[in-house]
Amino acid sequence: MKRAIYPGSFDPITFGHLDVIERSLRIADEVIVGVLNNNSKNPLFTSEERVKMIEEATSHLKNVKVVAFEGLLVDFVKQMNANHVVRGLRAVTDFEYELQMSQLNNALDEDIDTVFLTTRLEYAYLSSSITKEIAMMGGDIRKFVPACVVDKVYDKYQRREKNEQN
Ligand code: PNS
Repeated sequence: MKRAIYPGSFDPITFGHLDVIERSLRIADEVIVGVLNNNSKNPLFTSEERVKMIEEATSHLKNVKVVAFEGLLVDFVKQMNANHVVRGLRAVTDFEYELQMSQLNNALDEDIDTVFLTTRLEYAYLSSSITKEIAMMGGDIRKFVPACVVDKVYDKYQRREKNEQN
């Protein structure tokens, strides 16, 4: 069985992430979404909250598991008995960082390869950070994150009332 790990912060999961998860299932039999538990990144959501949101957003998909991890990605990949990491590439600006990370992970463990999926054009501009910024200012984020995530983001910023008025 080909098992791929799709790692990230997912703070919160966006439609861009969901698209990568769905398309990863065409090349892997099972996809494990690895949610980085790293408080130094000062996330809006705890890793438990992020795991739950991803589980809900992927509940229509078979063969997707969501697992929080700490420490090195290569250790998590090995622990999950996998050899492939999937990452999405939105634009050329992502490339340098992603290339470095992929080469670094391969240097740490030569059994681990990273597979890149280019993001669909409609999600090329999308990121968790931009979604949070829009929500913080009371903008409409329904086009950016799954329905089960929308109110959870507004709740964090206590901006739900404003969205409901629109
Ligand atoms: O969604 P993100 O924040 O772009 O994901 C980055 C992530 C989680 C894939 C990356 O930071 C990571 O793998 N962190 C784990 C620590 C690690 O292995 N670092 C060395 C490779 S960068």
